[in-house]
Amino acid sequence: MSLPSPTGHLALLAAEFDRGHDVWRSRTGSVCVAGPDQARAVMGNRDALVADTSDFYRTRRGVFGDRTEQTGIGRAARLLIKRHLSDHRGELAGLVADRLAPTSDWPDAANLLVLHHLRDVLLHPGAPPSVHAVLDEIVRRGVLAGARDRHGAPSRFLFRRRAHTALHREVLARRQRGRAEPPRDVLDVVVTGAAPEAYVPDLAEVYLSFLFATVGSIGFALAWAVLLTATHPGSRSAHPSWIVREALRLWPVAWLFARTPSRAQLLGGTEVTGSDRLAVCTYLVHRHPAYWERPDEFLPTRWSGSVPDEAYLPFGHGPHTCAGATVALRLLEDLVELLTRDWQLSVTHDGDGPQLGPALAPPRFTALLSRRDVRPGGR
Ligand code: HEM
Repeated sequence: MSLPSPTGHLALLAAEFDRGHDVWRSRTGSVCVAGPDQARAVMGNRDALVADTSDFYRTRRGVFGDRTEQTGIGRAARLLIKRHLSDHRGELAGLVADRLAPTSDWPDAANLLVLHHLRDVLLHPGAPPSVHAVLDEIVRRGVLAGARDRHGAPSRFLFRRRAHTALHREVLARRQRGRAEPPRDVLDVVVTGAAPEAYVPDLAEVYLSFLFATVGSIGFALAWAVLLTATHPGSRSAHPSWIVREALRLWPVAWLFARTPSRAQLLGGTEVTGSDRLAVCTYLVHRHPAYWERPDEFLPTRWSGSVPDEAYLPFGHGPHTCAGATVALRLLEDLVELLTRDWQLSVTHDGDGPQLGPALAPPRFTALLSRRDVRPGGR
């Protein structure tokens, strides 16, 4: 079965990349960056070459909070999720059997599995049932791949209003709690980590960023790993961490980063000014032929040796590097280990390309899982 090919905007960037120029003016209107060195310079904001910003904390009004609030919230969320993963690790095998076998429709199955596993840390069980219901609906309508196209504009508008009202009411209720009390979930982390006068809709939006990062990004990365492993049977015996790293290399869920140059300058031989938009494309960085051998192939065993770390940025680079990278990798590796060790995987899909949005999600596919006879001590 052939691997999916890039589609839409991604296909255009891939076609424009001539391998001779790592930075170029794209027909998409942005200045595209595909060179590892330039990508790290932009994302690491070397020599203050871009306006410092965090996509994660961007809200409709601008950017939420100051840097101390942002990093404090990111760190506290990671710690809470890490503890939750440790406490609930033993439930993963049952979850895989119940929710994925014998057949499941992906990538949605991956997103919903992650939602189920992280549910209590995203929204504690004592939160009002109406807020839990809104959370489920946000996932169905806004996080699952292609979800936004499944509903008409009026329905989307009405739902957005209802969801915002419910979340804003919940944020206000949480503000009444003592700030010294330990956080029960990620919403507590956001509310107590922000200044007391923080704008309520901003807090709701930051909370939604965490929902997209967990249920969306981890789910899509898991789905890519399953699709690639199932279509490359020889890779099943590779170490789960190699499978996850290679899936994130070939199909980085966070595939495009927008930044604005802080001044006129030369970037990778291309003149850029403060009115340009830079688009760092990690999909192209991760397949750069000067850094990766057989860049378009799924080869998990390449991670057994030395790899060009400088051309690998699935969690970003520099001051805004992902706060949740370690917890995301841990959950992904645990799930991939269970899936490849205990289950025989096969998939069917109709050959569509990836589903492109703010995240790079795999095409829809159906997975068949049948139990593997596991010999003691063997994989
Ligand atoms: C496979 C899963 C994930 C991927 C691929 C991913 C990717 C990324 C990337 C590329 C960035 C940098 C964005 C930029 O420079 O503009 C980022 C930032 C961030 N991520 Fe993740 N992420 C994932 C999961 C998570 C999880 C589970 C959390 C929960 C703690 C999280 C929290 C954050 C935060 C707070 C930031 C902002 C960091 C800052 O600006 O200080 N991410 N993520």
